[in-house]
Amino acid sequence: MTGGERAIARLVLVGFMGAGKSSVGRLLGDRLGWRHIDLDEEIEREAECAIHEIFAREGEDGFRRREREATRRIAHLPRVVLTPGGGWFAQPGLPALLGRDTLSVWLQVSPERVVHRLSDDPGLRPLLSGSDPLPSVRRLLEDRVASYRQADLKIDTERRTPEEVSAWIEGRVRPHLISDSS
Ligand code: S3P
Repeated sequence: MTGGERAIARLVLVGFMGAGKSSVGRLLGDRLGWRHIDLDEEIEREAECAIHEIFAREGEDGFRRREREATRRIAHLPRVVLTPGGGWFAQPGLPALLGRDTLSVWLQVSPERVVHRLSDDPGLRPLLSGSDPLPSVRRLLEDRVASYRQADLKIDTERRTPEEVSAWIEGRVRPHLISDSS
């Protein structure tokens, strides 16, 4: 299932901002009894400030450097559901830092749904600031969709709750996970 038919030691949920990665990751971690690691939270803890402050101080380059360092730190931990930010999967070389016993799942979402879901916390997504984020969402999603397509599994989150998405993923991966003793 990981391409090389290896048992799965970690899962990574990818997809655009607002796809529900963190909510699904938390639920899926609970279902599997695995640790959920949200990469942006790791970065914020290390930097001792919020993602939007990192963007303001260090620009996107500084944030991407921190994203890479955080990925390296956790890359080989087993039994982890990792939820990185929406740009992570499109950064050259970054997904490959995780071992080949990693399975990726693309949570698909439409640009309209992204804008609707993110309207509750405007200002927290530095790449989408501005009064009309829809054109930026469309452009960024278009740039990234070829990367997201590389994921091992995909699920449309449009009309599904995080509970339904996590249950679907559990059903697909459960038979292929590393055993508790390994
Ligand atoms: C980003 C997505 C954000 C966060 C940062 C950059 C992106 O995470 O990592 O603002 O490049 O799409 P979410 O996808 O969790 O919103």
